[in-house]
Amino acid sequence: MSLTPEHILKALGTVEEPDLKRDLVSLNMIRDIEIEGTKVAFTVMLTTPACPLKEKIRQDCENALETHVAKPLGLALEVEVRMAAEVTTSATIGLPNVKNIIAVGSGKGGVGKSTVTANLAAALARTGASVGIIDADISGPSIPIMFGVEEERPDIAEIDGRQMIIPIRKYGIKIISMGFLASAETPIAWRGPMASKALRQFLTETEWGELDYLLIDLPPGTSDIHLTLVQAVPVTGAVIVTTPQKVAVADALKAVGMFKQDPVNVPLLGIVENMAYFTPAELPENRYYIFGQGGGQVLSQQHQIPFLGEVPLVQSIREGGDEGEPAIFQADPLIRKAFEEAAQKLAQQVAIRNATQDKTKPVSIVR
Ligand SMILES: Nc1ncnc2c1ncn2[C@@H]1O[C@H](COP(=O)(O)OP(=O)(O)OP(=O)(O)O)[C@@H](O)[C@H]1O
Ligand SMILES: [Mg+2]
Repeated sequence: MSLTPEHILKALGTVEEPDLKRDLVSLNMIRDIEIEGTKVAFTVMLTTPACPLKEKIRQDCENALETHVAKPLGLALEVEVRMAAEVTTSATIGLPNVKNIIAVGSGKGGVGKSTVTANLAAALARTGASVGIIDADISGPSIPIMFGVEEERPDIAEIDGRQMIIPIRKYGIKIISMGFLASAETPIAWRGPMASKALRQFLTETEWGELDYLLIDLPPGTSDIHLTLVQAVPVTGAVIVTTPQKVAVADALKAVGMFKQDPVNVPLLGIVENMAYFTPAELPENRYYIFGQGGGQVLSQQHQIPFLGEVPLVQSIREGGDEGEPAIFQADPLIRKAFEEAAQKLAQQVAIRNATQDKTKPVSIVR
């Protein structure tokens, strides 16, 4: 008896996508089946190139073909599982080419939003995803310094009859920052209205091209900028950054409340606990819980928000930020692992969100 694609699909129909809890076939993740004698090849279309479960899914597919095809038919199969990714989207209108808009916020200032944004973006980009950052913090725009592009200014080009901002590119990431507009001398009073107008332009008048993830580095707390964001575009979800410290966690809870409240209703994709503990470079086994322990994890458990991970307080993270090279590009495996795992978990939460919840709609707020 010769093998048919139906044999393969029937077997793969028993493989469950571990996050989405449905089988790969009904999720339309199996593509391009090729059969030549006893050689079988197919593609598993993952929901993100940052999928942490790639190897498990590959193994499960191989096992299913062995159990449901090779054994019953008495065949020695040669199986090639190809992995590809097509990031799912939560977008409705507004930015059709940007699949997911992720707000990164905190309650308290200085907890490491910009550092976490920069490194999550870099980690996602390294998996092959297309990534952009909007630095929406007009009072303290730090993304240009963290990427070493503070002297650059974006070009404007006419595209399809519209004047469009061309984002700066660094490490494969497209970047736009309030820092490119405001100088240190810009009077504070102008900054509020300027920031809202600029954010709208950054979102809708920037040549982003196709993006899988657009991360928005927000100012601390809750401000008009947050409202502008949720009104201007459909936001996929928010990431909250906090330190373990009591005052930071208390403020983080306010930020959680703002995203959750009606009519904002932005799903919370996760919490990152930054500066979770101090580790001296020469004594990497030692951990000092300077800001207390586990505050972010407690917040995550109490409010059923996924915990994306903890990032230690290490000198090279600060140095990377000041020197324009996000720490994830440095050799230290401890730092790389912390940010890579957080990025994978974030991508996973985005995929789950897009598979299980309605598409986001921009908020209309009458004030
Ligand atoms: N895990 C870390 N280890 C060491 N230094 C860190 C770490 N995270 C952030 N920093 C440093 O702490 C300072 C504040 O971080 P960052 O600017 O990312 O915070 P923020 O929350 O964006 O601040 P703001 O509220 O002003 O926007 C920076 O100098 C940064 O380099
Ligand atoms: Mg910042």
